[in-house]
Amino acid sequence: VLGSEVLTLWREIIDKRLEQLLPKEDGGMPQLKSLYQAMRYACLNPGKRLRPTLCLLCAEAVGGEALAAIEVACAVEMIHCFSLIHDDLPALDNDDLRRGLPSVHKKFGEAVAVLSGDALIGLAFEVLSRAKGKPERVLECLRRLTEAIGVDGLVGGETLDILSEGEVPNREVVQFIHSRKTGALFAASCAAGAAIGGGSAGDVQSLHQYGDELGLAFQITDDLLNQSSSENQLGKSAGSDLAREKMTYPAAFGEDVARDMAMEAVQRAQQYALHVPKMQSELASLALFAVERLS
Ligand code: IPE
Ligand code: IPE
Ligand code: MG
Ligand code: MG
Repeated sequence: VLGSEVLTLWREIIDKRLEQLLPKEDGGMPQLKSLYQAMRYACLNPGKRLRPTLCLLCAEAVGGEALAAIEVACAVEMIHCFSLIHDDLPALDNDDLRRGLPSVHKKFGEAVAVLSGDALIGLAFEVLSRAKGKPERVLECLRRLTEAIGVDGLVGGETLDILSEGEVPNREVVQFIHSRKTGALFAASCAAGAAIGGGSAGDVQSLHQYGDELGLAFQITDDLLNQSSSENQLGKSAGSDLAREKMTYPAAFGEDVARDMAMEAVQRAQQYALHVPKMQSELASLALFAVERLS
């Protein structure tokens, strides 16, 4: 089974639940309509839904029911979408296009963009706190996802990404950036799915490592696509990493070595997938998808 087919299989279910969990456009205060709209726009526009799919699959991979992880998966996608809104802001990457559409600040203005991102983090943890499952499992998901966002995760990685613009590429720094800004949320998505699915500590750890390696492969590929693909194909800006002198894998290692490193990370991810009881081939396919994707 192809990675893209696994994604197709789950996308409708994820989108339907996300849609239910997000504020309705007309459901609350009329004055806050643009906030609700921005949250829905950011989350429901056509993304790949790779992180929530991995979360569901990892619940199944440890012998649980995939749908037992649906709330956790939706929380993961909300966190991802908050990170995209803020990543595109003028103060960060200043990108006008996301998922083939105007980025949230272009459509709703900067203030509502910043605040809709904030609101999505809050909503993600509210949804997570209501997830079905044993309280200690829910708590583990909560801890893993908060860690993945914080200074040793996404926000720390994004900060270093911005502060490293224009600096001479340094291999250790770029590894740090990628494992934090992207690897951490992938790892936590997988580990949280495994945790809520009732996995053993060993299985949860294996899937954390799997997600970490997949995330590295995914972000190296993002760097390569930014260099070599087009805005049309990506649905977001191309060539912007060079223009902003970003510290990327191709900048630090060269394009060919970066490509090899991405493939090696996929292979390590696939090795970790062999440690869990089920869904090994689906997990292997999604790891390969991280590098073979065109957008
Ligand atoms: C984009 O992630 C941000 C990166 C970590 C490179 P995705 O490529 O998963 O974004 P969507 O959700 O499909 O738009
Ligand atoms: C994305 O990094 C990482 C996060 C959003 C946390 P990039 O800035 O490289 O991703 P794109 O290319 O804008 O999607
Ligand atoms: Mg960025
Ligand atoms: Mg960006």
